Amino acid sequence: MNLFDVYPLYDVTPVSAKGIVVTDNKGQEYLDFYGGHAVISIGHSHPHYVKRLKDQLNKIGFYSNAVQNPLQVELATKLGQLSDCEDYNLFLCNSGAEANENALKMASFHTGKTRIIAFKNGFHGRTSAAVAATDNEKINAPLNKQQKVTILPLNAIDLFEKEIAKEDVCGVILEAIQGVGGLDEPTSEFYQQIEVLCKKHKVVLIADEVQSGFGRSGKFFGFQHHISTTLNASSDTERSRSIRPDIISVAKGMGNGFPVGGILIHKDIKASYGLLGTTFGGNHLACTATTAVLEVLEKEDLIKNASQLGIYFTKKAGEISQVKRVKGRGLMLGLEFDFEVAELRKRLIYDQHIFTGGAKDKHVLRFLPALNITKEDIDLFFNALKAELK
Ligand SMILES: Cc1ncc(COP(=O)(O)O)c(C=O)c1O
Repeated sequence: MNLFDVYPLYDVTPVSAKGIVVTDNKGQEYLDFYGGHAVISIGHSHPHYVKRLKDQLNKIGFYSNAVQNPLQVELATKLGQLSDCEDYNLFLCNSGAEANENALKMASFHTGKTRIIAFKNGFHGRTSAAVAATDNEKINAPLNKQQKVTILPLNAIDLFEKEIAKEDVCGVILEAIQGVGGLDEPTSEFYQQIEVLCKKHKVVLIADEVQSGFGRSGKFFGFQHHISTTLNASSDTERSRSIRPDIISVAKGMGNGFPVGGILIHKDIKASYGLLGTTFGGNHLACTATTAVLEVLEKEDLIKNASQLGIYFTKKAGEISQVKRVKGRGLMLGLEFDFEVAELRKRLIYDQHIFTGGAKDKHVLRFLPALNITKEDIDLFFNALKAELK
């Protein structure tokens, strides 16, 4: 049997990895500034993560959601504390698309309505409603196109207000920083107004934090960069005054490579038996991988590191004349050039042995390293980039 040929592959075969170094089958080392699509958050084979998973595997790797699993409770408690989202409940699944699919489904259950508002250049995954909410005609099959979705430009509040006022919308889904699209962001004002209008029209606000969550943007969640206008500014701390989406979807960096996703659902949205479900979601290994990631984020203060190194990266990028603009926050970054970057990406891999990412915007080179990289690693990246841009 052959593989179903859907991926154009680089000719590199990784066989081991440690920290940000990936080694191929010929012994060549590569610096991983892409983290396999923003997945590697605490570095490849982090010793704490490896130990936790090995220990767990020696005890029990899987049992179904029909029995008690204290590891899920431990994970939910720690996630609530570290993300400042203790007023949410956690549902665990297996990927980003599945997280968004469940989020959109919950929006429809909760409101009894069916239309979704999503945004231009957004990416939410490849399952039924998630792909319909994704602004990419090519990956939507006729089956997906049956969903009722309105795609609006980012930051066009008048258009948004007009659509939501039609009172048939169940959910609004947006990324705090568009990953696949190319690092564009809603303004704070736009995000705040969306929150207010969702509350007014009883529409479920879904923050897709699949890529920007778990510390990547320099805060636990990307939306936490935007302060809410709906809460009392004088009596709340800055952190607790951030936007409060109704549902937050997570995956990618959450498991540092172990396939795991989830949604944080605000306590105002009630659960009932059978409403959501999954065979693999929340299994013992997935919970252990995610708890280990949270422990490392906390112990090594990696969210602060992401924030500080994002600033350092932006400063270094300013020294390169060909860079038109630096986009993104923390260690979710992009360099915009006035040429398409596909060739540059190839040269970075084959000549400089450095992994970077592309985006839907073909002029943007994406930088999504593990959150524990150092200034020296960033210097290595810019030296390599300068060499290729000569
Ligand atoms: C913002 C966002 N949402 C959802 C997804 C889908 O995640 P997955 O590929 O795990 O289904 C992605 C993947 O790139 C993403 O970037």
